[in-house]
Amino acid sequence: MTETRFSSLRLVQFRSYGKAALELDGRPIVLTGQNGSGKTSILEAVSMFSPGRGMRRAVSDEMACRRNKVGWKVSAELVAGGRGWEVATWFPGSAGRRVEIEGKAARQVDLGRLLRVVWAVPAMDRLWSESGDGRRRFLDRLAMGFFPAHSEDVIAYEKAMRERNRLIRERRRVGAWMDGLEQQMAERGTAIARSRRRTIERLKAAGKESDSGFPSARLTVISPDGGNGNTEDPKELAEALKLGRHRDFAAGRTLVGPHRSDLLAVHETSGMEARNCSTGEQKALLLSIILANARAISEDCGGPPVMLLDEIAAHLDAGRRDRFFSEILRLKVQAWLTGTQSEYFNSLGLDTQWFEVSETNGLSTVVETKAPSRPLPQG
Ligand SMILES: Nc1ncnc2c1ncn2[C@@H]1O[C@H](COP(=O)(O)OP(=O)(O)OP(=O)(O)O)[C@@H](O)[C@H]1O
Ligand SMILES: [Mg+2]
Repeated sequence: MTETRFSSLRLVQFRSYGKAALELDGRPIVLTGQNGSGKTSILEAVSMFSPGRGMRRAVSDEMACRRNKVGWKVSAELVAGGRGWEVATWFPGSAGRRVEIEGKAARQVDLGRLLRVVWAVPAMDRLWSESGDGRRRFLDRLAMGFFPAHSEDVIAYEKAMRERNRLIRERRRVGAWMDGLEQQMAERGTAIARSRRRTIERLKAAGKESDSGFPSARLTVISPDGGNGNTEDPKELAEALKLGRHRDFAAGRTLVGPHRSDLLAVHETSGMEARNCSTGEQKALLLSIILANARAISEDCGGPPVMLLDEIAAHLDAGRRDRFFSEILRLKVQAWLTGTQSEYFNSLGLDTQWFEVSETNGLSTVVETKAPSRPLPQG
């Protein structure tokens, strides 16, 4: 397995940073600092090297430092596939976000081929208790890591569905047009269902290999009312859409298809559905999925992912936290960990590179500090 990691990171006019630079030696990274100091912003900057809007799902404009509002840039040196790469992504202040790999214009999907970035952020603490949208997005991001075509399928499916919904809202009963859209939805929608199912199977296999002691989640994709929205047979989905037209005209939107699927998680040992689990158990379930995902990516994609773990120590007791950290070290991933309290990370000791983040007058700075020289964790 080759390594995948950042060896440097530079931020310009990004969020609360005017300019910042981090030189990274390959060990996992611990960022500590007070609330609002700029820890998450650094992780977000790293997440811009993954297709999509990054881990806060922000629009490009929001990330420009408010002092100047002239856009932003994040550049980095990356080690992947056995060699070094210069990568950069920036927002010039208008038009879209740009990407450059080795000084040449590239697309966001090209970044996805170079490296995979997975993250766990505090907003995901509500993943199991909120509506299905967040869980579906979570599952789709996992699927995109294994099946790059999944994102194109999702985009094409949603585009066709928006068009179908528009016809429905405008009460236009144009048969041939509707047939065509439903055919596109059937083809893309069944591809989506297939890659979601395969992703779950892959995670299950990877979860079994783990000896982290983390509770695993039994995952299933479900359809509302037990409908056939998750079918992998394009004919069946096309028929279901056609049959549903009358009902969809009454509802004003499409009621069958993988856009309504949900991810059900059950705590393997207690048999409890995730939404009824305790806060700490919910966090542990999420982290067990993230760890299984990292393990599967390492095995399938030629190198480990980069992991962004924003405030993951909160809600975990000391035992769970240390088991989680041991697993991170075993997986040999470049993990980026944040927290307000450095004590959480003491057991990681010299195995990690430490940075202190601070803020003065709305501007953030980041400096490398000495990691505590505690005994190395067992295992
Ligand atoms: N576009 C922007 N320009 C300037 N500052 C911004 C911008 N967007 C957010 N900020 C500010 O940047 C600061 C750092 O935010 P960040 O989320 O990185 O902090 P944090 O260290 O993760 O804090 P916490 O511990 O509370 O999670 C915050 O004060 C926030 O209000
Ligand atoms: Mg934060």
